[in-house]
Amino acid sequence: MSEPILETQGLTRLFGTGEGLVRAVDNVDLSVALGEIISVVGESGSGKSTLARLILRLMPPSSGRILFRGTDVTHLHGYTAKKAYWREVQAVFQDPFASFNQFFSVEHVLESALRLSPVRPSKAERERLIRQSLEDVKLNVSDVLHKIPHELSGGQRQRVMIARAIMLRPHLLIADEPTTMIDASSRATVLNVLLDLHAGYHPTIMFITHDISLAAYVSDRLIIMRQGQIAESGPVDKVMQSPEHPYTRQLFKDSFSLAR
Ligand SMILES: Nc1ncnc2c1ncn2[C@@H]1O[C@H](COP(=O)(O)OP(=O)(O)OP(=O)(O)O)[C@@H](O)[C@H]1O
Ligand SMILES: [Mg+2]
Repeated sequence: MSEPILETQGLTRLFGTGEGLVRAVDNVDLSVALGEIISVVGESGSGKSTLARLILRLMPPSSGRILFRGTDVTHLHGYTAKKAYWREVQAVFQDPFASFNQFFSVEHVLESALRLSPVRPSKAERERLIRQSLEDVKLNVSDVLHKIPHELSGGQRQRVMIARAIMLRPHLLIADEPTTMIDASSRATVLNVLLDLHAGYHPTIMFITHDISLAAYVSDRLIIMRQGQIAESGPVDKVMQSPEHPYTRQLFKDSFSLAR
């Protein structure tokens, strides 16, 4: 495998609940190669989003380490350090725009991504970056720029979020169930936007989904998560042809039965 962009070592996150301790992410060791598309697959509650939030440094781990390009980022302190990290590591989530005011325009939402820029770009440069990002996700600039989320379809909203995430060309893009909440007819468009971006500037993509056949379609390698742990992992062909874990076989069965 080529140089890893991301590694986790013994990564663990516990949550205390009324019923006791939940091991949401439990001793996860993973290594993601620069430029690959890797999928994290597992049933609901298996720890996929918690793993994403830990890698994004949106919450601290209970134990373990996260290395990004060989540098320990487990304990980033302060906004400046996090800002530098988030220029390199961006995400899109299941619910597009959930974290934004519903009256913000697309332009405003995209512009806000530029806060991560070390130096604030000039007005002309900001406009260029915003236009470019919308073109990257195949949205018509004049069509969507001044709209608010309600005036867009779910698929368009998710493409705006992808545009925002990739505007500063992060090296790692985490896509957590990006097509789950959008209508079936827009799903392929959103997936193709991600695949075209990958073909264009080769960001490393961590694709999170409960649908193993979708994961197999988009990625090079699969990480199968079960109850916070990695049940198995490997190249897509290997996991598809000879899944080792009964849980993986069940994921394939469920996936194909949902497909029709
Ligand atoms: N903030 C939290 N407080 C308490 N428990 C949590 C918290 N976040 C997640 N959990 C628990 O951790 C486990 C993993 O949750 P997580 O959201 O990471 O799973 P997931 O694989 O993303 O599921 P889904 O497919 O439904 O999105 C679950 O048991 C969940 O209830
Ligand atoms: Mg989740």
